[in-house]
Amino acid sequence: MAFLQLKNIKKSFYLGKKEFPVLKDISVNFERGEFVSILGESGGGKTTLLNIIGGLDSQYEGDVLLDNTSVKSGSEKGLDAYRSKTIGFIFQSFHLISHLTILQNVMVPLEMSNLSHSKRVKRAQDLLKQVGLEEHMSKHPGQLSGGQKQRVAIARALANDPDIIIADEPTGALDSQNTDEILDILNDISKQGKLVIAVTHSDKVANYGTRVIHIVDGQVDSDTQLRDKAPDVEKKVSDAKVTHLSFRNTFSMALNHMRYYLGRNLLIIFGSMIGIFSVIFMLGLGNGVTGYITSEMNKTVNPTAIQVTKNVTSSDPTGADIDPSDINITDKNEKTLKKIDNVNSVEEGYFVQGAKLVANDKSAQEQFFQTFNKTIKTNDIKQGTKPGKNEILITKAQAKKFNKKDYKSMIGKKVNLFLTTTNADKQPVQVQRELTVSGIIKSGTSSISYNTLKSMFTDQGIKIQPNFVTVNVDKTQDVKAVQTKIKNYEHKDAKGKTVKTYQITGVGAIIDTLNTYLQLAFNVLAAIAGISLLVSAIMIIVVLYISVSERTKEIGILRAIGARRKDIRNLFISEAFLLGLFSSILAVGVAYLVQMGANSISMSALKMPIIDITTGNAIFGILVSVIISLLAALAPSRRAAKLDPRETLTDE
Ligand SMILES: Nc1ncnc2c1ncn2[C@@H]1O[C@H](COP(=O)(O)OP(=O)(O)O)[C@@H](O)[C@H]1O
Ligand SMILES: [Mg+2]
Repeated sequence: MAFLQLKNIKKSFYLGKKEFPVLKDISVNFERGEFVSILGESGGGKTTLLNIIGGLDSQYEGDVLLDNTSVKSGSEKGLDAYRSKTIGFIFQSFHLISHLTILQNVMVPLEMSNLSHSKRVKRAQDLLKQVGLEEHMSKHPGQLSGGQKQRVAIARALANDPDIIIADEPTGALDSQNTDEILDILNDISKQGKLVIAVTHSDKVANYGTRVIHIVDGQVDSDTQLRDKAPDVEKKVSDAKVTHLSFRNTFSMALNHMRYYLGRNLLIIFGSMIGIFSVIFMLGLGNGVTGYITSEMNKTVNPTAIQVTKNVTSSDPTGADIDPSDINITDKNEKTLKKIDNVNSVEEGYFVQGAKLVANDKSAQEQFFQTFNKTIKTNDIKQGTKPGKNEILITKAQAKKFNKKDYKSMIGKKVNLFLTTTNADKQPVQVQRELTVSGIIKSGTSSISYNTLKSMFTDQGIKIQPNFVTVNVDKTQDVKAVQTKIKNYEHKDAKGKTVKTYQITGVGAIIDTLNTYLQLAFNVLAAIAGISLLVSAIMIIVVLYISVSERTKEIGILRAIGARRKDIRNLFISEAFLLGLFSSILAVGVAYLVQMGANSISMSALKMPIIDITTGNAIFGILVSVIISLLAALAPSRRAAKLDPRETLTDE
């Protein structure tokens, strides 16, 4: 039983419907140890036949049997394995991978074996010694002569210790001295018990082998034994198992390629970095600015206190049709508010427009006077305490007005408070009382307790109900929920229309809306910055397409030595992944640097960091970048995986 059998191989190419038969019924047997030359005219179908033998082509009639097993009947996976384990390819134009060193070139097929890295290096070095290139191992192919390149290609073909070496015009590009050297090496290989099949159109080369098969017009014209084949040698069982390219190896190959074209890849990385950086920066600026505003606001108001008034609608712009009692907060209202989850207390309050304070013959006006409540920060009372019965809290500005030299001495002094209101007949009435200063507040307004105010009014025969309340929430996190609940209460007005019952006023409500809008604005800015990501995606697509077209030969080689389509796809996906990863890591680094710079300036100017990039923002940036790169890789890597190795490996 012959080692390798070709049985009735027929192959035609079609141009439209027209058939061009190239191989017409070829049947040949081969043995180990033979060095077979296939001789024929140019265009006679020699390459076509080699592609069939080498498992690069499965579209033919007839069969190729290896140890009596058909190589064709297997799946694509089977053919991939056949190419990587059994076949070693040598081409007329060498097809070395230019961005890899000589050593790395020989190691490419070994990347598909289960050998350890050090064993791979050792094996590649041994093979290069065998072909006499130990001194050139760290050179790139461009630095070698033709004969040397072909010797590298031979070392590569031998890497996985295949049983069959097929060489398509291996000396076609070489001078006569190099031709002799290469033929000697091929002869040696056959002596090691391997089957060497070399295609040539030169009689001189053909006569070097142990046997010449002459193909004419797609058929075997003559089959001549020139000398004895090498005796069978006991085949050493190699411990190396051929698998496929591991993910790690595709990664390191992608890295190698990126390193070789470093300048170009750095530009791409820099370009994509700008997009990712802008997104992360905008998000961080959004956090910083809203954080700054919130903390500034919280310095003057208590964040857990919500001021609530009645929502009164008026059809008259002057509000003349509003019944003043409509704005009163009833006991029933208070009970409803108290029942809301997480509400600790509801504090009654009253505001009046226009107040006058008189002391030491000097007077101060207050536009908007309200009773003391929890929205006022007690921390802001720098001297004294909050107002108790018949006491008043005044502002620092007012205290200075009353006593320029020593404003602090105003504490304990008397101040006359005048308030204007209307009585039951809607006639304006002035209410007045002498009060003791309990404390001085840094900013804001002066205030007295609700009970003091109520008794001032009662003295004048005016009955009042609170016209606002302060709802105190247990913690800041619950404020939003309580606010929403209050805003959602509804009732039917006099005309039967459903209207909101309450209104939230005070600074707390403003911060909340302001922050919502600010956050929105920064998210929109981040999204606009995200458009530059589209640019980086396009850049990556372009660079990968360029990479694919530059590397068609490499892809062909990888496929010829058994790489699966999937491996090729992974190679380009890895490259895109690395581009995305590197640019986003760089972007995060730059963003943190800019944050450091900007914050050191804002710390001295505002006493607060203005940019706050969270770990979440950074991770988001990296994820977006990697996902965009992977999406960009889809089409180019599919194209690479679809390339037909036979077409990419033609020798023009
Ligand atoms: N992919 C293809 N499509 C159509 N015709 C092809 C293709 N490949 C080879 N041929 C034709 O098949 C014939 C044999 O080609 P080839 O095997 O490359 O010849 P050789 O290697 O002996 O020079 C030529 O006429 C060539 O034009
Ligand atoms: Mg050819």
